[in-house]
Amino acid sequence: MSQLILGIESSCDETGVALVRAEGGGVPRLLAHALHSQIDMHQAYGGVVPELASRDHIRRVLPLTQTVLHEAGEHLDAVDVVAYTRGPGLAGALLVGAGVACALGAALDIPVLGVHHLEGHLLSPFLSSDPPEFPFIALLVSGGHTQLMRVDGVGRYEILGETIDDAAGEAFDKSAKLMGLGYPGGPALSRLAEQGDAKAFKLPRPLLHSGDLDFSFAGLKTAVLTQAKKLGDELVTRKADLAASTQAAIVEVLVKKTLAALDQSGMRRVVVAGGVGANRLLRAQLDAACAARGVRVHYPELELCTDNGAMIAMAAAMRLQAGRQQANRDYAFDVKPR
Ligand code: KG4
Ligand code: ZN
Repeated sequence: MSQLILGIESSCDETGVALVRAEGGGVPRLLAHALHSQIDMHQAYGGVVPELASRDHIRRVLPLTQTVLHEAGEHLDAVDVVAYTRGPGLAGALLVGAGVACALGAALDIPVLGVHHLEGHLLSPFLSSDPPEFPFIALLVSGGHTQLMRVDGVGRYEILGETIDDAAGEAFDKSAKLMGLGYPGGPALSRLAEQGDAKAFKLPRPLLHSGDLDFSFAGLKTAVLTQAKKLGDELVTRKADLAASTQAAIVEVLVKKTLAALDQSGMRRVVVAGGVGANRLLRAQLDAACAARGVRVHYPELELCTDNGAMIAMAAAMRLQAGRQQANRDYAFDVKPR
């Protein structure tokens, strides 16, 4: 059986639309995807403004849908299922994607399917040219979540450890804000870090030796603030060093805990997903450590690490294939911000 799945992502500050083709039991194929990032719009405010985000999703989602259909050489009538991000995310932003998905579903008389945003990230490496095989350990590192998971198949997820306070992306973003690096802070901080000395400042590695697979980043953020205050005017010239030291602390914890998860589970494969998965130091250190152990590491394509519609269409396609979820004609949609 062949199914054409349209995916819509609108949980935060990116509007993403994609078309995926699922055929038989093979890995579904990405036909086209399009993205509009609101970063420029929110930059002036130092963070995402929810109402502006919702309004912009409304403006973008249908034109992006047309772009994707055109690029794939498909027509709206050919779509079999419309998938959308059901949560977590900003309520108003989620409602745009859900509303449009259900309106399209009702108009075309086809079923719709709500997808968990994190499952989209988790399965995004299946969009790459060299997709992973189950089972694997997943390191999910986004702006809102930091989790280590054991993944035995679609929908078969066991959380092994997670953050007890801030997420890794939040640690990047908040530290970057303290240093006046703007929004989104993660990419800016990591760019600046490339010119700095990672050993310049001694920062804590929270829970590194806790013996479990949990994370904590709130204390690190406080340590960065203390260091920044101590530097005072000198911060201007030491910013790259502080950025490098901060990044090194976050990455070391992520890598060591991932290795511990591999040791504890006996798994030979790791999947990294979520926005922080784009971080170059994380990739380099994890690749080196895993190569030394003969462990394979899979990442999404760089452009699909952060939010996008392709991962939502993919997760929907894989859930349908695995019989984990039925698409349905219940257009009385609901979103789950948390
Ligand atoms: O997955 P994502 O796009 O959105 C959420 O679902 O949260 O992740 C966004 C997060 C932000 O915190 C952003 O600063 C971080 O990913 N991020 C990075 C990099 N690129 C994005 N953090 C560190 N280094 C990067 N290169
Ligand atoms: Zn995300």
